[in-house]
Amino acid sequence: MANNIKYKNMKQKIVAGNWKMNTNLQEGKDLSVDIIRSVKNDDVKVIIIPPFTHLSNIINETNNSFVSIGAQNCAAYEKGAYTGEVSAEMLKSIGIEYVLIGHSERRAYFNETNEILKQKLDIALKNQLLPIFCCGEMLEERNSNNHFSVVKQQLKESLFHLKNYDLIKLIIAYEPVWAIGTGLTASPKQAEEMHAFIRKVIQEQYGNDIANNISILYGGSCKPTNAKELFSNPNVDGGLIGGAALNANDFVGIINSF
Ligand code: PGA
Repeated sequence: MANNIKYKNMKQKIVAGNWKMNTNLQEGKDLSVDIIRSVKNDDVKVIIIPPFTHLSNIINETNNSFVSIGAQNCAAYEKGAYTGEVSAEMLKSIGIEYVLIGHSERRAYFNETNEILKQKLDIALKNQLLPIFCCGEMLEERNSNNHFSVVKQQLKESLFHLKNYDLIKLIIAYEPVWAIGTGLTASPKQAEEMHAFIRKVIQEQYGNDIANNISILYGGSCKPTNAKELFSNPNVDGGLIGGAALNANDFVGIINSF
């Protein structure tokens, strides 16, 4: 079965910038132009993930560049009376390639459960969006030594219903909640240990081919000063960047850390 799969998203070096709820339209356009102008490393897949309101404009700004565009979220429903929601089909229709699913801020502030994230993944994939699925433990969970089981549960409950040919389209981002926006970074050893664990969990469920070809990104206070050490680990395939993605120099510095 695994041999028949086309590895659309074959393991690659990836740096994705999640702008969260930052920048007005002009600032966002300027930032995307600065990033395109400064990136020299075409060995790395660069994804920028601006707010919804900027997406169409930024797609125009980045047209014909090597930068791909993602959205920060999509609805768990196809269409209809869901005021304020944005559907996967809408995103696809304006040329979006990627969508973040399960960011810890969505889990914490908008009550997104593993079950809701499972629905979002299905809808995203049905609409040919490539999901960047975020997982990661809270500080109490790490302190009580439950971090591996929490992450395994997140993967199991949201992903494991997927068939091989869909699972391989995903990018996984390990983002320990205690490291997001706090200035605390997982040590390279902590990151590698969890990334190797995630790959093993995927290998047990989906086999070697899939496990070896899926990209696993680290996120949580990743900066130009620590990216090199993090990315030099064999199971860390890149980063999902928040704060440092809002400054073109810092973001490009992280891309150049490979
Ligand atoms: P941070 O955020 O880099 O600001 O810690 C990462 C993220 O939330 O994706």
